[in-house]
Amino acid sequence: MDLVIPTSLQREHEALHEELRRATQADGEVGEAASALARLMHPHFVKEDQIALPPLGLLAALARGEVSTAMAEVLTLTDRLEAELPAMLQEHQAIIGALQRLHEAATRAGRADIVDFGRRLMDHARTEEEVMYPAAVLVGRYVRLRLGPTPQQ
Ligand SMILES: [Fe+2]
Ligand SMILES: [Fe+2]
Repeated sequence: MDLVIPTSLQREHEALHEELRRATQADGEVGEAASALARLMHPHFVKEDQIALPPLGLLAALARGEVSTAMAEVLTLTDRLEAELPAMLQEHQAIIGALQRLHEAATRAGRADIVDFGRRLMDHARTEEEVMYPAAVLVGRYVRLRLGPTPQQ
């Protein structure tokens, strides 16, 4: 079964990535702070696109009451997500630290656009912690409950 990241979230990630890429091209300390942030963000984004966001593609079907054995595939992702969640939250802390440095540099340089980008990225991380990650974990737990014990292989 295709576990597809909801388009809205996919677009948001792509847009943030693109804005970050543009910020890395800024002159001087703004570009340096953005590059430091990008080095932290890239592996984090990749992990999110692999394990944290695809389970959310099942939300709408599950909320309609649709459950199928093919959905068991999501458990590989959500088990990994549960195991890696503490590390991912730590990554957010590091990202927020780098974001603060970018915020200060962009403020000094009068780059209101990058200050605004930083604010949106901060909100993004908060939404993930408060809504997206817990929702993805719940998708896994709910699918496991509904499908019952998995047969021994
Ligand atoms: Fe993200
Ligand atoms: Fe994140």
